[in-house]
Amino acid sequence: MTDTTIKPLPEILRPLVRPRRLRTTPAMRRMVAETRVSPAQLMLPAFVAEGLTEPREISAMPGQYQHTLDSIKKLAEQAAEAGIAGIDLFGVPTEKDEIGSQAWNPEGILNKGIAAVRDAVGDDLVICTDTCLDEFTSHGHCGALTEDGRVDNDATLPLYAAMAVSQARAGAHVVSPSGMMDGQIAVIREALDDAGFTDVAILAYSAKYASAFFGPFREAVDCSLKGDRKAYQQDPANRIEGMRETLLDVAEGADMVMVKPASHYLDVLSDVAAEVTIPVAAYQVSGEYAMLESAAAKGWIDRRRCISESLTSIVRAGADIVLTYWAIEAAGWLREEF
Ligand code: PBG
Repeated sequence: MTDTTIKPLPEILRPLVRPRRLRTTPAMRRMVAETRVSPAQLMLPAFVAEGLTEPREISAMPGQYQHTLDSIKKLAEQAAEAGIAGIDLFGVPTEKDEIGSQAWNPEGILNKGIAAVRDAVGDDLVICTDTCLDEFTSHGHCGALTEDGRVDNDATLPLYAAMAVSQARAGAHVVSPSGMMDGQIAVIREALDDAGFTDVAILAYSAKYASAFFGPFREAVDCSLKGDRKAYQQDPANRIEGMRETLLDVAEGADMVMVKPASHYLDVLSDVAAEVTIPVAAYQVSGEYAMLESAAAKGWIDRRRCISESLTSIVRAGADIVLTYWAIEAAGWLREEF
C-alpha cells in the first residue's frame, strides 16, 4: 500500500530565490519583458498580379490575396496607417519566358505595382521588392537555365542586375535578391550605383533554405516549378553554411541580411544576429502562415496567442525586422497589448 499522506514542506527546502515574483501581475510581466515586438519592425509581403479585375484569395493562404494595381495601393495605404515598417512586393505576370524578361520590363506587373505603391504612400512605408526570377520564368526556376537544364549562376547575374535597376527606377527603396546565386549582391550593388541609385538599399536573402515551407507561396505566385531548388538554396541541415552565406553578402555590400524561413531556423537567425553589425530580417514564410491558420480554423490552437508567440520568438532569436503576412493585423494587436 502506498502512503498518500502529503507532508508539509520542510523549512530547509523553502525556496530562497523566487523568479515567480516577477510574473505575478500583467503589469509586472509587461515591465520585465525582455522582448518587445513593435509595428515599426514588421514588413508585409504582398502579391500584385497581372490581368485580375478583382483581388483573388490564395486558397492555401486564407486572408492573403493576389492584388490588382488598385487593391495593392489600398493595401499599402492600410499598411502605412497601421504604422508597420514596409511592404515587400512580389509580381505575378501573365506572360512568362525562359529568362523571365517581364521582370525588368518597366511595364511589367511588378514594376507597375512598385510605382503604384510609391505613388500611394510615398516615403511613408519602406517599399521593398523581391528581386528574383521564379515568378517570371516559364520553368519556375530562379534564374536562366543551361542547355542541360541546370540553373546558370553567371548567366543569371546580369538579369538580376537589370531587374534591380528597373525596380529602383519604378520607385523601390529596397531591392531584395532572393535567388541564392553566388555573387548576386556585388553585381546588383554595382548595377544600382552605375545607374545612379546609390541610395537604394539591398536586403539580401542570405541564409535561404530549400524549404518545403514555401509550399503555399508557389500557388500565390502561380509558380510553374517542377522539381526543387536544392542546387541553389541551402540544405536545411546546414547551420554554419548559413553564416558563410551571410558573411559573403555582407562583404559584397548588403545593407541588411535575412534568414528564411524563420520559425524552424531560429538557431541560424540567432547566430547571424550575434555576428553581423547590420540589421537582420527573418521571413515568416507561407507554410508557417498556413500551418497556424489551418490549425486555428479547426479550433485546435488559439490563433492570436500563437501568432503573437511566433512573432515574439522570432524577435527574441534576434530579428530586427520580421516579414510576416500578419503584419497589419499584428500591428493592430500591438497597439493594444501583445
Ligand atoms: C523566391 C521566393 C520564394 C519565397 C519568397 N521569395 C519562393 C522560393 O524560394 O521557392 C517564399 C515566400 C513564402 O513562402 O512565403 N522568389
